[in-house]
Amino acid sequence: MNKERKRILTGDRPTGPLHLGHFAGSLQNRVKLQKEYETFIIVADVQTLSTNFDHPEHLPADVWQVTLDNLSAGLDPEIVNIFIQSMVPQIAELTVFFSMFITVNRLRHNPTIKTEAGQHGFEENMTYGFLGYPVSQAADILFCRADLVPVGEDQLPVVEVSRFTARRFNELYGTVFPEPEGLKSETARLVGLDGKAKMSKSLGNCIYLRDSTEEVRKKLMSAVTDPARIHKDDPGHPEICTIFSYHQAFNREESPDIEERCRKGTIGCVACKKRMIQVIEEILDPIRERRIRFEKPGLIEEILKTGTEAACIEGSRTMQLVRGAMHTDYFDRRKS
Ligand code: TRP
Repeated sequence: MNKERKRILTGDRPTGPLHLGHFAGSLQNRVKLQKEYETFIIVADVQTLSTNFDHPEHLPADVWQVTLDNLSAGLDPEIVNIFIQSMVPQIAELTVFFSMFITVNRLRHNPTIKTEAGQHGFEENMTYGFLGYPVSQAADILFCRADLVPVGEDQLPVVEVSRFTARRFNELYGTVFPEPEGLKSETARLVGLDGKAKMSKSLGNCIYLRDSTEEVRKKLMSAVTDPARIHKDDPGHPEICTIFSYHQAFNREESPDIEERCRKGTIGCVACKKRMIQVIEEILDPIRERRIRFEKPGLIEEILKTGTEAACIEGSRTMQLVRGAMHTDYFDRRKS
């Protein structure tokens, strides 16, 4: 039952289209590592319900959208397994077993849970499922005994719960799980078009992977820059400029030069934005081309079905080990 290659598990909540923040935070790493690691991509529909339990009607379209975005970004369905969380029962089983030994305090003090509870106004009144989503996410990661978890920076404390869960399980019942490592991307977090700390759908400050050339142009041209620059030869402060932070994220080679010219006032905001539009278009163009290919009727469904089957097979292998370790393999035990 040893794995031939190390494994990656990562994924997204299906809450709408993916944007450049997802691309910089995790998608780029997924695409880069898909050949080196055996890759499982989770479409975390149950986790979406941890905040959106009152709107399950959005799930089918959003599950399709997130899958299409991942494929368009460059994941190859011939080599990666993309699957739906709620259709892998072993993840639900593991969540229950893990929840017996993870304490409520560990979850309550988790920085990601605290921040997200604040964003959703859940401080006083959170559901059991929301508080426990890091446990369910540990099951997402450990059901396939993953080694590496590429995520955006804000998810690292949740990955920490998975590491603790693996360690604690192994201590209590015997070694079954590797301790999965979080892999943060080089771009810590992408700021929004409005200059807010984070590109986020709920803030409406995103460039989506599916945006058209015209939408990209409009969004970037109206993005906030350094308010001190009124004339194009005013010296600028790239460290506070949204567009400059995009140059750092997506145009690394050229960005020292742009920084210098901005400080001296020899490149204006309009020229700098125009260059950024070119850079983003170079990223989005191949994504758009692939999207057209994957939009073929029935293809996403077929890819999700195949990926989910592969995940279930891996899940039952893991459950065999887990049940053996936990003395809950009742009928197998009697035979031997
Ligand atoms: N929590 C992640 C997010 O909000 C999505 C997710 C669910 C995930 N299960 C995962 C990410 C397992 C990495 C590993 O984006």
